[in-house]
Amino acid sequence: MILDNAKQQRRALIGALVLGGSALSAQNTLAAEIAIACGAGDASDYCPIAAQEWAEETGHTVQVVSTPNSSTEKLSLYQQLLGSQSSDIDVLMVDIIWPGMLDDHLVDLSEYLPEDATEGFFPALVDNNTVDGRLVAMPWFTDAGLLYYRKDLLEKYGHEVPETWQQLTDIATDIQAAEREAGNDDFWGFSFQGRAYEGLTCNALEWVASHGGGTLVDEQGEVTIDNPRAAAALDLAASWVGTIAPEGALNHTEEETRGIFQSGNALFLRNWPYVWSLANGEGSEVAGKVGMAPLPHGPEGEAKATLGGWNFAVSRYSEHPELAADLVAFITSREQQKAHAIQNGMNPTIEALYQDEEVLASNPSMSELYETLTNGVPRPATVTGDAYARVSNAFFNRTHQVLSGDLDGASAVRQLGRELERLGRRGW
Ligand code: GLC
Repeated sequence: MILDNAKQQRRALIGALVLGGSALSAQNTLAAEIAIACGAGDASDYCPIAAQEWAEETGHTVQVVSTPNSSTEKLSLYQQLLGSQSSDIDVLMVDIIWPGMLDDHLVDLSEYLPEDATEGFFPALVDNNTVDGRLVAMPWFTDAGLLYYRKDLLEKYGHEVPETWQQLTDIATDIQAAEREAGNDDFWGFSFQGRAYEGLTCNALEWVASHGGGTLVDEQGEVTIDNPRAAAALDLAASWVGTIAPEGALNHTEEETRGIFQSGNALFLRNWPYVWSLANGEGSEVAGKVGMAPLPHGPEGEAKATLGGWNFAVSRYSEHPELAADLVAFITSREQQKAHAIQNGMNPTIEALYQDEEVLASNPSMSELYETLTNGVPRPATVTGDAYARVSNAFFNRTHQVLSGDLDGASAVRQLGRELERLGRRGW
């Protein structure tokens, strides 16, 4: 009760401060500068636009900081900044897998936001961002791995959209040979993210889980990766490199693979929903020729999409936590998520927006995506907590060795099994 009162008082005070901030901004008396770490500043980065709108509405200013595209590199940057308790960044864009690793450095947003702040958001995402009862991030958009394909080429060569990885391999082999015969020497059957980074963890989890090989570490914290289905999934992926996928795949992240597909040089692409509006947008060689489907599955599994997504958090070392939390609430609001969905094709984290007519009209696949999202497979970040980065690093490094031909699938999962057991020996 006492706590509640304190909370209410604080909120009233914050409200007054925020209002005061905008009313007085003309004299610059209370106007503050909030630094926000956004994405890489490319065409799909809506964060700077939304942050600027907030600044215009409130009279404060924002300093937008661009961060590396790779989630793994972004995390190292944040770990350095937060580790040194730097107040340079107030608001951070955080990956769905980070709350359990960064929570000590983030404020409990429920101390600053109204009690109903998370109402209407997917409960699983709110749970994901709640660590030891503290709401450390607000969900912004959600992601799931998808298969993009060239509708025109499947039609031209009389093929259906593949349902299994073997079908994908066969069709890709076939059409790649025919397109090269027809003069396109740069044409590839399949493009995916094979660099040793978090994106490879996402791809490899889809291969393994869709072969019925589990999710590395199960919900109880048991290490499950050392099994023949997981090994077969990795071996199949290794067979693509240098045949239906370029050797360069070993160094590709999302953007390189989008580039190959968008310039007309790949039949299939594994990527996230952000690609849809860009591949169909101005300057794309394949606009109007693109289809989107669930990823294929192995002989004994079903289609699995890795769940991704981004959130906003406030650093514990911010000198303006209440304003920073207000910016977080603004960017993740229903209105902003709707604009993000319509303009960039991003998937909202507010459930009702999947029934919004304007959202559906802007992206006809949004309702199909809803299915994929609700059946997606999470990475074992919650269960492994602080150790997740090490778990993922071990997984993408071993997988990368298999893709490079340095290790076979069975040896890789055996080694990985031992490494993960060691990491989790005293409990995660
Ligand atoms: C996407 C996902 C994110 C994932 C990353 C890997 O940005 O939303 O969750 O970690 O890709 O590259």
